[in-house]
Amino acid sequence: MSSQSKPRILFCREEIAAAVSRLASEISKDYRDRHPLLLGVLKGSFMFMADLIRLLDFPLEVEFIRLSSYGRGRESSGKVRVVAGLSSPVKGRDVLVIEDIVDSGLTTSFLLDYLQKKKPASLKLCALTDKPSRWQTAVNIDYLGFTVPDKFLVGYGIDWDERFRNLPDICYLEGED
Ligand code: IMP
Ligand code: MG
Repeated sequence: MSSQSKPRILFCREEIAAAVSRLASEISKDYRDRHPLLLGVLKGSFMFMADLIRLLDFPLEVEFIRLSSYGRGRESSGKVRVVAGLSSPVKGRDVLVIEDIVDSGLTTSFLLDYLQKKKPASLKLCALTDKPSRWQTAVNIDYLGFTVPDKFLVGYGIDWDERFRNLPDICYLEGED
C-alpha cells in the first residue's frame, strides 16, 4: 500500500446510516432506563459515536479512552497501552464500549479486561465493523454494524497513517487484496 492508494467504497453513507439506525434501536431497547456510560475508543470511533448517540433519545453519558497498539503499519503489535485514560468513574456503571474495528481482537480484549477490573455494573461492546478472518483472540461483540473482509479500511473516522478519516463512506485501500 502506498500513499497513492485510492480508497474504494465498501459501505456507502446510506448503508452506514441504516446500520447505525438498527444499532441505535437495539441499544435503546437494552439501555433506555439505565443511564449508560458510552465509552468511545479514540480516534477511530468518533464519527460513529457522534451519529449513534444522536439517535439515542434517553439519558446517557459520553466518555472516551485512547489506546495505542498500532504503529504506522497495519498489524497490531499486540502490546496495548492506555494513552489517554478515563475521567469518569466506571464502577457500578452500565458501560457500553464503542469501537470502530475488531481486527485481531487484541486491543478490544485488553480494553474489556482493563474495564472489568474497575467493576462496572455491566460491560458490553458495540463495534462498527468486525474482521473475523483476522481474529487472534475471541471477542464477544454485543452490537455489530458490519462483518467485513480482510481489507484495510479507511473513512468514516477510520484512518491509514492519520489520513482518510474525513471520508463519509467506509472504504478500503486498493492494493491490499
Ligand atoms: P486489533 O487490536 O487488531 O483488533 O485492532 C484494533 C484497532 O486497530 C482498531 O480499533 C483500529 O483502530 C485499528 N485497525 C484495525 N484494522 C484496521 C483497518 O483496517 N483500518 C484502520 N485501522 C485498523
Ligand atoms: Mg480503534
